[in-house]
Amino acid sequence: MTGPEFTPEPRLIHFETLDSTNEEARRLADAGEKGPLWIWSDVQTRGRGRHGRSWVSEKGNLFVTALLTTRAEGAARGQLSFVAALAVHDAASRFAEAEHLRIKWPNDLLLDGAKFCGVLVEAFGRDVVGIGMGVNLDHAPDNTPYPVTCLRGATPRALLDVLMPALMARVSEWDDGAGFATIRQGWLKRAAALGNVVDAGHDRGVFCGLADDGALLLRSERGDVKAVRSGEVSFPSLLAKMDCA
Ligand code: BTN
Repeated sequence: MTGPEFTPEPRLIHFETLDSTNEEARRLADAGEKGPLWIWSDVQTRGRGRHGRSWVSEKGNLFVTALLTTRAEGAARGQLSFVAALAVHDAASRFAEAEHLRIKWPNDLLLDGAKFCGVLVEAFGRDVVGIGMGVNLDHAPDNTPYPVTCLRGATPRALLDVLMPALMARVSEWDDGAGFATIRQGWLKRAAALGNVVDAGHDRGVFCGLADDGALLLRSERGDVKAVRSGEVSFPSLLAKMDCA
């Protein structure tokens, strides 16, 4: 694992089945929980993904939410999804060669170009957030619009034992947004397709950086740079590597 160290014992609650670990985090936050607290379930009956999609959640994969308090607001709070992706990369590097692992904007984790982890950050009230992470370890869903795979060689518990300190270390490095420059640097170092042509919704351009609010920066053929804040990124085939200066 690369990245900073963090040692205190995490608080972890484990369930055999939940509707969704993010939903349980929301219930706990509504009841006054401030975290840090980890909520882990073997199975989810209503796992949710980004863009209102469902997340297939059968036994064997990891489904976990970290409930935390942050002083960051607005755009800075959105930076947490980059913090989380970086932490999953740190932890996954224990089980796969780091060069085969990449982060796809904003927070999908890829192994040899195929997705094995998704992150869903949700705000629960003024200062509490839930960082939900789903990691394919044993099986991957069928019929996805993008290639999927598993991070083999780790049980949910083994990955969690590495992921909990990795995330807390990255959250501490982020420092409620004051340390985003370091997070951004680490994220860009591990990003998929940096310097390549990508499609993002209706826009196509060279992926040339990450804005302070986490927007994807795309440079068009004319040379102007546009910030893309939502939607999916895809990589056109046989991408030409272009200078991103
Ligand atoms: C994505 O669509 O890429 C994000 C998927 C996030 C799934 C995880 S599994 C644990 C947590 N609980 C949920 O219901 N969703 C997240």
